[in-house]
Amino acid sequence: MKKLKMGMIGVGGIAQSRHIPAYLAIPEIVEITAVQDLDQTRAEEVAKKFHIPNVFANYEDLFEMVDAVTICTPNKFHAEIAIAALEAGVHVFCEKPMAISVSECEAMLAASQKANKILSIAYHYRFMETSRIAKQAMSKVGDPLVTRVQALRRRKVPGWGVFTNKELQGGGSLIDWGCHFLDLSLWLLNGPEPVEVMGTAYNKLSKIPSQINEWGTFNHEIFQVDDHVSAYIKFKDGSSMLFECSWAANIKEDITNISISGVDGGLNVFPLEIYRPEHGVFMTTTTEIEENPQDVDVLQARNFAESCLGEAELRCKPKESMKVTKLIEAIYRSSEKGSSIKLQ
Ligand SMILES: NC(=O)c1ccc[n+]([C@@H]2O[C@H](COP(=O)([O-])OP(=O)(O)OC[C@H]3O[C@@H](n4cnc5c(N)ncnc54)[C@H](O)[C@@H]3O)[C@@H](O)[C@H]2O)c1
Repeated sequence: MKKLKMGMIGVGGIAQSRHIPAYLAIPEIVEITAVQDLDQTRAEEVAKKFHIPNVFANYEDLFEMVDAVTICTPNKFHAEIAIAALEAGVHVFCEKPMAISVSECEAMLAASQKANKILSIAYHYRFMETSRIAKQAMSKVGDPLVTRVQALRRRKVPGWGVFTNKELQGGGSLIDWGCHFLDLSLWLLNGPEPVEVMGTAYNKLSKIPSQINEWGTFNHEIFQVDDHVSAYIKFKDGSSMLFECSWAANIKEDITNISISGVDGGLNVFPLEIYRPEHGVFMTTTTEIEENPQDVDVLQARNFAESCLGEAELRCKPKESMKVTKLIEAIYRSSEKGSSIKLQ
């Protein structure tokens, strides 16, 4: 079977902890042949650590020897590098979010269509067993009415890397963490069209110098991004979403959940439960799922590689990821404007 020659661009935390190990777990279809990073020393170290034969100083020089690239740079560079790769005839797997703005996403999508090459974004929650079964169980919910999303951390602003750098990341808790839950919700709901968005982004807590943080340290004085966001989203099909995400909320403990109430039943994603009136009583179905994060990473890597090789259907399509960025952009704009944003 043909192997996909993979180049890694930006080989910091997520490339080393998730994507390189995942590709190394499927050697029958992927071979990592090259790495590139702005930090040349890091690129050399990573190549040595994972036995990758070629190191490049510029990403353009890497395109010649690969079939696909995986982009794990700060968000600001996703669009620029993805478009360059697609124009060079290389498939692209890019870390989330797709890009900082909708216009960048549109340019990425156009480049992928023009080159007829695959573009996919690393929304890995779709590959969790819980999510995959929840997607099937949506048939029990019927037409969705209200979706509630809560992705709340009590005191976990990522105090490393560039997560709190607005210029490089485009935002904070919403674009970094909330994006996964917008993506997963939209996927479960079969991609409804958002028509109106009202959002508020806060960053009061993280500006307080004495603030407690469990995930490293950061400079409170120059903290510019959101650490807590709430939003209300109306969809064209009449359904709505109550959304909240935070890196640092004053709550008892972290909460991660999506729950969907529909006409025929309800569904809770974390943990997966189904609620339905049946046999004249209201029944709750619970599940026993043990997630293995490595399995999720490998399933995601396999789906991208097999899609490039023409052997699978891509699970995370770029138009869907662009819709997530559309919502993120609308929430931030609504917050700045102080009123709702109409999207259609
Ligand atoms: N899917 C997830 O849950 C998840 C988790 C963490 C990070 N991420 C995403 O992954 C991306 C990278 O995050 P990270 O935590 O690995 O960051 P990181 O800072 O650890 O690594 C980023 C690497 O990119 C390199 N780099 C910066 N600009 C570059 C450029 N123009 N060209 C080439 N290399 C460049 C840096 O030198 C660094 O080695 C971000 O988009 C982030 O949102 C996703």
